[in-house]
Formats: sequence, structure tokens, C-alpha cells
Amino acid sequence: MEFEFAERLKALPPYLFVMLDEMTAKKRAQGTNIIDFGIGDPDLPTPWPIIEALQREVAKPENHNYSSSAGERSLRVAVADWYKVRFGVDVDPDKEVCVTIGSKEGIFNIAQSFVNDRETIIAPSPGYPVYSAAATIFNNANCVKVPLRPEKNWLLDPADCPEGARMLYANYPNNPTGATCDEKYLKKLQDWCVENGTIFCYDNAYSEMCFDGYMAPSALQAGKDCIEFGSFSKTFNMTGYRLGYAVGHKDLIAGLKKCKGQIDSGAPKFIQKAGITALGLYNGSELPDEVKKNMDIYAERRKVLVDGLRSLGYKVNMPKATFYVWFDCGMPSMKFTEKMLDLGIVATPGVGFGQSAEGYVRMTVTQPKERIAEAIERMRKGSI
Ligand SMILES: Cc1ncc(COP(=O)(O)O)c(C=O)c1O
Repeated sequence: MEFEFAERLKALPPYLFVMLDEMTAKKRAQGTNIIDFGIGDPDLPTPWPIIEALQREVAKPENHNYSSSAGERSLRVAVADWYKVRFGVDVDPDKEVCVTIGSKEGIFNIAQSFVNDRETIIAPSPGYPVYSAAATIFNNANCVKVPLRPEKNWLLDPADCPEGARMLYANYPNNPTGATCDEKYLKKLQDWCVENGTIFCYDNAYSEMCFDGYMAPSALQAGKDCIEFGSFSKTFNMTGYRLGYAVGHKDLIAGLKKCKGQIDSGAPKFIQKAGITALGLYNGSELPDEVKKNMDIYAERRKVLVDGLRSLGYKVNMPKATFYVWFDCGMPSMKFTEKMLDLGIVATPGVGFGQSAEGYVRMTVTQPKERIAEAIERMRKGSI
């Protein structure tokens, strides 16, 4: 017997990183020594106090049963406290916070909760693929991909966005471009959404991955007519733990909680408790030492990669945030990616994040400096 996918699943494009993994696995099987700058998955360990908390909490029987899809109240309180300390914003842990199973889950389920058939979702292009793929297709919505342009510092311009859309996703510090924004820009986006009756979904997964004194703002600093998604993944090297949070307007949080109530039973309690320890590392708006130490490592690697690429003749910006280096590769991005793979280097083609990013490539600094230097040498010898 054969089983056919549902139409909406058929309509879903293959997930970029699954394809990339398959290509890389083939090369590895041929014996190539791979230097992987592909997926945005930190190679550094979770800070030790968080691991200790996890060990402690997993041993407690009261943490072995179901949580709730809204998340443990103690973690919601910790998120609210953290918003106060980090962004100076007051939020109600009961009405304005929801724990998510990684921010990806929340980013998808907010569309399930608020978007009706044939309504429009605005997604930046290039952008995190979930906005235009799963969030759009599983809701029978219509996605308008609004191009981000280098001449506008990769900032989504509301003037390019269609009126009457139901939802708009924006993400700074940005994957894949590494672009950043300020609070004034977020106010402009939020005001535009309010004027147009559009739900503003702000993806702040990289809010803490900042360098050179830059600290990313929160959309909530510009007002609460929005929902913001945050993540433990990149801040604390906790991608595999699957823990995030949504904070914002009480109606949007209530809708998300109602939707999740039918779908999941929350992240494991012991992981949520470890999350409380993670947020508790902050004493003020500055990055705590445990996080800063890692960001300093990424910052150094970023410099080695950017300097190396510049020495090969590429025009590359030094990103102020994220662990992504994004540059014009001077040819179709898939062709460049294939050439790189022949040298045993994995990079991500810009076209995978949207047609308007054709010609660009993303490299993630999740390799030690020596491996980055080796990759640059391979590129030099391979005349790329
Ligand atoms: C822009 C952006 N948003 C959200 C996520 C999801 O992160 P997580 O589900 O691990 O919190 C990612 C992951 O790479 C991302 O790049």
C-alpha cells in the first residue's frame, strides 16, 4: 500500500537544511573532510550552571509529569522578570507570556491561531523559511514575500508591504543577513502594523547574540500591540533543549495558548526549570559572563572568517549580531555552494532563504578559528 501526502504537505517545499544535509552526507561518505558552516547550531556547550540545574531538576519526581502548554508559571515569571531587567518592559506572566517548545513552534502556531483561509502573511525575503512555508501553507494563507535589500541595510520597509495583511513577520538581529535594527525602527514597524490592522510577529531569537557593544532591542519597547518570540537556543547554546517563549499582547498570547492546548503539553518541566536558571544568570541589561564568554568566541571567529573572505576579494560586512556571515558570492548561490562542497566546505545558498537573496551565501561561525582559516586556505587554493 502507498500513502499519499495531504495536498498542503505536498505544497510544502523541501526544508533547506534537509537537502543540504543530504548533499553533505554524500560527500562525507566519499571520504571528504567536511568543514561545516551550514546550519545555525552552536558548537559550544551549554553554560555549566544551566547543566547543573538540569541535572538537579531531572532527578525530582515532581518534574516527570506533564507541564502545561502555556508553560510552568515559575518560568513565565522568570521570563517576565528578565524582560524587566533586560529591556525595562513590564509584562504580566499570566496574561502576556507563553512558554514555547523552541521559538520555531510558537512562530508556526501563532499563524495557526490567527490566520484564516486566504488571508495574507507578509514574510521578509530572505527570511527564516518557516514564515513563508509552514506558517503560510498549513493555514491556506497567501504569502507576500517582501524583498530585503542591501541598500536598505536589509531592513524590511513597510512601504513595500501590502495593506490589509493579517500578519507580518520580522526578524532582527536577522537570519540570514546578520542585519540589526534599533528601537525606533521597531516602533515604525509596529505603528505600520497597528494602522493596517496587521498582527506584528517579531522573531527575536538572536536578541542576545550581539557584539561590539550592540544590544538588540525588543519589539515590546515600542509597545505591546505585537507578539515577540525569543529563544534559549542561541543565547545559551541550548538548541537541543527545545525551549523558547512568546511575550506580547494578551489576546495574541491567549490565542497561542488555546491553540497549543490542543497540540502539545508543554516543554519538559526539568528543561523549563533549567531555563529559569539560564535567565537568572542576568543581573542587569548586560550579557552575563557565561553568555559573553561564548559571544566573544563567536566574535573572534567572525573576524577570522570576514577578514579571510575579504582577503579573497569578497565584499563582506562585519555583522554586529548573530553568528552568520552573509556576502555576495558573485554567482548563482547554489553553484557557489556546490563548488564549496567540492572543497569540503558547507555553506548555505542565499536562494534557500528566498529568491531575492540569489547571489548571496551564508556561513555560520560554528567552527574553531583554525578550521575557519583552513576553509579560507581551501578556497584560496581552489580559486573560489
Ligand atoms: C530567525 C530564527 N527564528 C527562529 C529560530 C528557531 O529557533 P528555536 O526553535 O531553536 O528557538 C531560528 C533557528 O535557527 C531562526 O534562525
